[in-house]
Amino acid sequence: MAGGGYRPKLIEVALPLAAINAEAAREKSIRHGHPSTLHLWWARRPLAAARAVIWASLVDDPSGYDEFTEPDGETEDERAGRLGRIDAERQRLFGILERLVKWENSNNPDVLAEARAEIDRCFPDGPPPVLDPFAGGGAIPLEAQRLGLTALAGDLNPVAVLINKAMIEIPPRFAGMPPVHPGIDKTLTTWERAQGLAADIEAYGQWMRDEAKRRIGHLYPDATGPDGEKLTPIAWIWARTVESPDPSWSGHVPLVASWTLAKRPGKPTVWIEPVIDRNSRLIMYAIREGGEPLTKGTVDRGGGRCIASGAAIPFSHIRAEGLAGRHATRLMAIVAEGDRTRTYLPSSAEAEEAATTSLPNVSLGAIHVNPRDFKTPGYGITTWEELFTARQLTALTTFSGLLGEVAKKVKSDAIEAGLTVDGRRLHEDGRGADAYAAAVITYLAFVIDKCADYWSTIAGWDNTKGETVRTLSGDRRSR
Ligand SMILES: C[S@@+](CC[C@H](N)C(=O)[O-])C[C@H]1O[C@@H](n2cnc3c(N)ncnc32)[C@H](O)[C@@H]1O
Repeated sequence: MAGGGYRPKLIEVALPLAAINAEAAREKSIRHGHPSTLHLWWARRPLAAARAVIWASLVDDPSGYDEFTEPDGETEDERAGRLGRIDAERQRLFGILERLVKWENSNNPDVLAEARAEIDRCFPDGPPPVLDPFAGGGAIPLEAQRLGLTALAGDLNPVAVLINKAMIEIPPRFAGMPPVHPGIDKTLTTWERAQGLAADIEAYGQWMRDEAKRRIGHLYPDATGPDGEKLTPIAWIWARTVESPDPSWSGHVPLVASWTLAKRPGKPTVWIEPVIDRNSRLIMYAIREGGEPLTKGTVDRGGGRCIASGAAIPFSHIRAEGLAGRHATRLMAIVAEGDRTRTYLPSSAEAEEAATTSLPNVSLGAIHVNPRDFKTPGYGITTWEELFTARQLTALTTFSGLLGEVAKKVKSDAIEAGLTVDGRRLHEDGRGADAYAAAVITYLAFVIDKCADYWSTIAGWDNTKGETVRTLSGDRRSR
C-alpha cells in the first residue's frame, strides 16, 4: 500500500529479472577473481542475485514516494500522468540495478556510489545492518558489505564461518597495510585495500612451496620425454585393479572407465592401450597417439569387465574384494608439462615407486558411515588417509606442518615491520602481529584444502579441452 506511512521496497513491486538472471547465470563461468574460488562451498548463491536482492530490499519503490501519493479527487489524466512518472522513476532505479549486477562493475566506484546513494536516500538516519544467520559461502554478507552496509554473518558449519571470515572480516581489518615479508619491495605501490595482505599470502605461499620442494621434492622425479629430455610430471594416471573372477585368468585386471587421455579437436587422440601378455599374465600399458582406443573402458555404471577374458565383474565382486583389502593399483601413464601442451608418457617402475613409498604415520579418522554421500567404505576404503597415495599424504602433511612454521615467520617479520605483539587469534579483532599471522595462514590453509581436492586417489582425469585433474568438488584449475 502506498502512502499511509508504509513504503514498499522495490523488491516487493518489480525487478529487472531478465538482467539479474542473465548476470547470475553468467557468473557460473567466471573463475578468475571470483570469491567462490577461495574455497568450495556447496549451494553457493550467485553474487549478482544477492547484490540485487539486498539493494532492492532497501530501496523504496517509487509508488511509495510522498510526491507520488494519490491526491484526493485525482482525474483520470492526472492518474495516468502520476503512474507514468512512477514508472519512469522505477525505470531509473532499474537502470542502476542493471549496472550494479554486472560482474565487471563489482568494484566500480562510480556504480557502487550511485547504488549506495539510493540506499542513503531511503535511510536518512543510516541503513540497517544486514544479518545472514545461514551465510554458507557468504554471498549475502559479502554483497551487503560491498553496498556499504554493516554485514553480520553466522553459520552452523565451521567451514562456512571460516570462508566468511576470510572473505568479509579479515581483508578490511588489514586494509591499507603494506606487506611484512622482507622480500617484498614496500615502495611498489600504495597498498590499498587488502593488497598488502594478498602480497604476503603469495610470498609466504611461495616460501612454503619452495620449502616443501626442498623436503619432499625427491618424491617427484622428472619424467623422461620421447627424446630423452627431462620433463616435469603434473599428474599420474592410475588404474585400480581387482582379481578377475574368471578362473581362466588368475590375476588382477584394471578397472578403467576410459582409456582416452586427450581428445583434442583437430588433433590425434591420445589413449592408453592395455597390452596383455597371456604367458606371463601381465598387463602393460602403452601410450598411443592417433586412432581411437581399441575397447571401451572396463567399468561403468553397470559393473566391470575382465580385460583379459571379457567376463563380467559384478560390483558385488569388486566390493567384496575391496572389503577384503585385495584391491591394488597400477600406474598406467604419466602426464608431463610439455611445450604449451601435455605430454603423455608411459609409466615406469621408478615413477610407481616414488608415489607409493614414504607413507607418513597419520591417522585422519574413519569416513562417515553414510552410503548415500560417502561411497568408498563400501569398497573397503574406510579411513580418510586411505584416499591418498603415500606421496599425496606426505605432501599434504608436509604442507600442513609448514603452516605452523609460516605462522612463526609471519609473526616475527610482522614485529620487525613494526606491528605489536597482540596475542590475538583469528576470531579476535586484533590488528597486531599475532592476528596478522593467523590471517595469513588462514588463506594458506585454504590452499592446502584445495590441494586435497586435487591430490587424492579418487580424483579423475579430464581428457577433454582442459586435460587436467577432475577434482572431487568439480573445481578446475584455470590454465
Ligand atoms: C543454502 S546455504 C546458504 C547459502 C548462502 N546464502 C550462499 O550464498 O552461499 C544454507 C546454510 O545454512 C546453514 N545452516 C543450516 N542449519 C543451520 C542452523 N541451524 N544454524 C545456522 N546455520 C545453519 C548451512 O550450514 C548452510 O551453510
